[in-house]
Amino acid sequence: QTGMFTYDPGFTSTASCESQITYIDGDEGILLYRGYPIEQLAEHGDFLETCYLLLEGELPTAAQKADFDYRVTRHTMVHEQMARFFQGFRRDAHPMAVMVGSIGAMSAFYHDSTDISDPQQRMIASMRMIAKMPTLAAMAFKYTIGQPFVFPLNSLDYTSNFLRMCFAVPAEEYKVNPVLSRALDRIFILHADHEQNASTSTVRLAGSSGANPFACIAAGAACLWGPAHGGANEAALKMLEEIGSVENIPKYIAKAKDKNDPFRLMGFGHRVYKNYDPRAKIMQKTTHEVLNELGIKDDPLLDVAIELERIALSDPYFIEKKLYPNIDFYSGITLKAMGFPTSMFTALFALARTVGWIAQWKEMIEDPSQRIGRPRQLYTGAGPREYTPIGRR
Ligand code: SDX
Repeated sequence: QTGMFTYDPGFTSTASCESQITYIDGDEGILLYRGYPIEQLAEHGDFLETCYLLLEGELPTAAQKADFDYRVTRHTMVHEQMARFFQGFRRDAHPMAVMVGSIGAMSAFYHDSTDISDPQQRMIASMRMIAKMPTLAAMAFKYTIGQPFVFPLNSLDYTSNFLRMCFAVPAEEYKVNPVLSRALDRIFILHADHEQNASTSTVRLAGSSGANPFACIAAGAACLWGPAHGGANEAALKMLEEIGSVENIPKYIAKAKDKNDPFRLMGFGHRVYKNYDPRAKIMQKTTHEVLNELGIKDDPLLDVAIELERIALSDPYFIEKKLYPNIDFYSGITLKAMGFPTSMFTALFALARTVGWIAQWKEMIEDPSQRIGRPRQLYTGAGPREYTPIGRR
């Protein structure tokens, strides 16, 4: 029964907010979206069904799902002037730099959905963000590889549309691989929301000032880009490539354990999960499915990842500190195999997390008790003192 289930892990006093959207039990490795286990949603549903669930609080009926899919599909194009906006970026700009800039720029193109006091405009802004993020991400990718933008095709489902916008070229036919599309759709489900992580808290804090939803999502995307957060999928793959072979693993395990070495195993550890990240298990299974579909028999990066996980999980340091693989540990191998460059990994994370940011933003805005966020500090600086003219310093 939504709202009847409360869990007091002993941090009630320090919780930043109340929410009914996502529940995590870090000790048990449990993740629920509106009460539904992530394993079941990833297994049986698609990403737009998860979007509907996160936004509305209930799984859609067949009619509601068809209507939601129809409305999202018909919001996938962006204002044609957005294409010219992209021309201002350097060709070799990181896709996340382009994404943060273009998401924020949405405020300049869609004035009819920036008044947060109007429920209709809030709904339109939510649909626009969910629908247009794949188009913006694909445009960011195409722009950085110097290929022409590909328009969305209404006859395709959400994730197939995104794959086509990324990989189709005018010179030849592009056929979406349904196995890869289903795998990527499941990866989007895994990334959709995750309680009050750094980027979601950023969106809530920005939203608490009354900023428009596009500006709030741009702030969340900027925060997600950090290597300690959503940038970890890109960093984890670079780490696996740097390790290169199974023989090199012990050297990197030693670095990760050395307190004087800033190196951390990317894709390992989590502020909340002190058990296996349930998403990482599904991610690993999806990795095997994608590599099999692509006929990749022995991916050296996967061999390194599996052996690194095996060694780390049996190492007293990692056991004592309760460090397990998180969602970012395997995702990069899968996305690289699909044809995405590492620079696109966080953009894909942002694409999927947009629905979580929007759902959390809406929940906060529609809470009559919400006020502007104002974290306090412990002041440890100088006490009061008199100004001294520069000649006497
Ligand atoms: C995401 O919050 C979310 O929900 C985020 C996310 C989401 O869906 O939104 O789940 C997505 O951001 C996943 C995390 C991706 N980041 C990485 O994989 C980067 C590598 N991991 C670490 O940087 C680290 O584990 C963090 C940032 C994820 C968590 O940092 P904390 O909170 O400082 O880690 P901790 O408190 O659990 O650390 C406990 C100890 C510390 O040592 P001591 O200070 O106690 O001596 O373990 C050490 C840490 O130094 N440690 C690691 C480590 N992670 C933590 N040591 C080596 N390798 C690591 N990866």
